Amino acid sequence: MSEGMPGLAPAHPEELHPHLALARRSLTTAGIDMAEFVPLFYRTLFGYAPGLRSLFPLSLSVQQSRFGRALVHVLTTLDEPESLVGFLEQLGRDHRKFDVREEHYAAVGRALLATLRECAGEAWTPEVAEAWEYTYGYVADVMRRGARADTGPAWWAGEVVEHRRLDRDNAIVRVRTDGAVDYRAGQYVGVETPQHPRLWRYLSPATAPDGDVLEFQVKAIGYGSVSRGIVASAAPGDRWRIGSPMGALDQAIAPGRELLMIAGGTGISPVRALLDQLERDGGHPQRVVVFYGARDWESLHALDGLRRATYRNGWLDVIPVVEEEPPAPGPQVGTLAEVAARFGGWDDCEIVVSGSPAMLAATVRRLRGAGAPLERIHYDPFVVD
Ligand SMILES: Cc1cc2nc3c(=O)[nH]c(=O)nc-3n(C[C@H](O)[C@H](O)[C@H](O)COP(=O)(O)OP(=O)(O)OC[C@H]3O[C@@H](n4cnc5c(N)ncnc54)[C@H](O)[C@@H]3O)c2cc1C
Ligand code: HEM
Repeated sequence: MSEGMPGLAPAHPEELHPHLALARRSLTTAGIDMAEFVPLFYRTLFGYAPGLRSLFPLSLSVQQSRFGRALVHVLTTLDEPESLVGFLEQLGRDHRKFDVREEHYAAVGRALLATLRECAGEAWTPEVAEAWEYTYGYVADVMRRGARADTGPAWWAGEVVEHRRLDRDNAIVRVRTDGAVDYRAGQYVGVETPQHPRLWRYLSPATAPDGDVLEFQVKAIGYGSVSRGIVASAAPGDRWRIGSPMGALDQAIAPGRELLMIAGGTGISPVRALLDQLERDGGHPQRVVVFYGARDWESLHALDGLRRATYRNGWLDVIPVVEEEPPAPGPQVGTLAEVAARFGGWDDCEIVVSGSPAMLAATVRRLRGAGAPLERIHYDPFVVD
């Protein structure tokens, strides 16, 4: 495995380091099928290093394999080195909660290359092998560096102090941590609940940091194991673990520029946290517009609170959006992507997009089509849903 730290990938794709560019191309040209890749990768890894099995959850389904999707995300964002390096440093720091140590990276790299070789067949040439060795070395080095640089705890212990059902599928959960979690408004954290040990899921605190209580809104997803468990049966007294904060949506706050925030469902939580932070900091000098969407009117759980925030803050506008025709006029009707594009004129502001992977993909695509520059659109990578 390459041990040297390769230089940062340059800002323009055409200048991308040839090894990184080739590794990225090879994923498509070799036609690697994730459904085949993921189980083989785990089999190979646990063959090489059986001791690593206990770090992973009991069930390792393809859908749950965030590793494969993370790699695809990394490869597709190689030409955005600044945000990629930030993401990887945070990911490395966050991996401490799984008890991952420096020496584990070599075994994962070996297993990754062996699995890729197996899946790529004839497309696996010595050049492609070298490109992948370099690429994994680059990614692993940045992650290890992030982990090494963090002097904070690998995770915080916390206790559920409130669990309030909003409706059948949504709940507010407040967790008091042993020591304040060192996060910034708009970030997200991994959580592990006693009902599902070793199944970590990301949740976004809905308020700016203030003391030792974190508030989350959790939505139970169709077949989701952890989210359904939290909504149905989390209770005061439960002990949770909270991982290192990740994400950088607060980079969208630029005093000279208007701020547009588009949030669907529980994606409103980081937006609420950012608004909370702005209020605490004395407001925003330019207009802030929030499009807040859900399937129907009843599902806009955070709307009352947001409306109250508009009464206190002249700089804030909140526009509710619903997909189903409402019983009375008021909200905009359509998907968030359609409605935000309909209002238009967003090419000069900073934009935050927050929501499900499908909503993120559709909205970012639509905004790009309407002329919004990519560097002004801030969102968390949907590779790790
Ligand atoms: C940056 C980030 C922040 C997040 N913040 C929050 C939050 O504040 N509140 C919250 O409730 N959730 C949040 N999530 C989603 C959360 O982390 C879990 O993915 C979600 O709760 C599902 O977990 P699960 O174990 O119930 O489902 P899993 O067992 O992991 O998945 C079950 C099935 O549902 C699908 N699925 C998973 N997530 C979604 C989704 N979001 N939409 C549609 N289908 C999905 C999976 O592909 C799979 O088929 C966030 C995710 C990310 C990446
Ligand atoms: C290139 C390097 C790596 C990348 C890009 C990567 C990426 C990821 C991502 C995105 C997740 C999901 C995070 C989450 O849901 O909280 C994850 C989970 C995990 N990773 Fe890594 N990882 C890397 C290296 C490693 C190494 C070296 C180990 C050591 C064994 C490791 C062990 C784990 C474990 C145990 C999980 C939890 C698995 C699960 O919840 O299904 N990873 N990884």
